[in-house]
Amino acid sequence: MQHTAGIKEVRVLLSAHNDKKIALVPTMGYLHEGHTALIEEAKKHADLVAVSIFVNPLQFGPQEDYDSYPRDLERDLNICREHGVDIVFHPEVNEMYPEEMEFNLGIKSMANILDGVKRPGHFEGVVTVVSKLFNIIQPDFAVFGEKDRQQLMIIERYVDNFNVPVEIIGVPTKREESGLAKSSRNVNLSESEFIEAGEINAALLNAAEQIKNGTVNTDKVMSFIRLHIEQKTSGTVDDLAIYTARALQFVENIDQDVIIFIAVQFKKARLIDNLYVSI
Ligand code: PAJ
Repeated sequence: MQHTAGIKEVRVLLSAHNDKKIALVPTMGYLHEGHTALIEEAKKHADLVAVSIFVNPLQFGPQEDYDSYPRDLERDLNICREHGVDIVFHPEVNEMYPEEMEFNLGIKSMANILDGVKRPGHFEGVVTVVSKLFNIIQPDFAVFGEKDRQQLMIIERYVDNFNVPVEIIGVPTKREESGLAKSSRNVNLSESEFIEAGEINAALLNAAEQIKNGTVNTDKVMSFIRLHIEQKTSGTVDDLAIYTARALQFVENIDQDVIIFIAVQFKKARLIDNLYVSI
């Protein structure tokens, strides 16, 4: 496995593999089984797997956890090695942003909901760094997790809108036994919060069951979820919405496939999750 922090250097490393299909797995590091599931999927599609590790300041708001975001490059490099990654690109901030960006990518309706509203500028920051990574690595495929489904959908749309020659691959969410979605931020949960947080997925699965049993009113389903979280965890529901899977639109009554999105705030970690419900 080769690794470098330099843009020029990574391009040199990649130039030795002109004939190969490349898959990129963009990450912010502190790798866990969610990330390695993406790496394993990447291997199925490409001859060469590149992982990027970069905590992207552009996608964090001023009050958010950029400084306390967990980082451990040596550990991450070992995990990549164990999983047969070929190239790891781990730039420093001044390599990616040597000067303030003059251009910004604007996102319309897809960033006017959920984390686009709760975290102003977040998805613009994500698409900017992903676009730069695509230009640096020039992958044939890029792999993203359904755990961050709004992000995945925005990137799919970005690639469509701008005819970016990269095929986007989505991977189902990896979970703890409790159902808690694996996340680098889970290290910021206390022991009891870590246990309780399994209830987020349980609440969504219950809601899906209710929908299948005929409770189609969106408000009613959301009240059940809210109550479940309030009663069974010490966290607070920071965001909750049910949108159509196709267009991310609000529906009063659920009559087509929907995605339930949730964000729960614990003391030191804000966790997001979602569930696709087919009708
Ligand atoms: P990060 O949170 O490190 O996640 C990197 C990738 O791993 C994302 O595509 C995310 O959806 C996926 N992932 C995280 N947890 C997962 C889980 N439990 N199961 C499956 N996939 C999971 O998302 C980002 O970084 C950044 O926004 C990034 C795209 C790298 C841009 O900076």
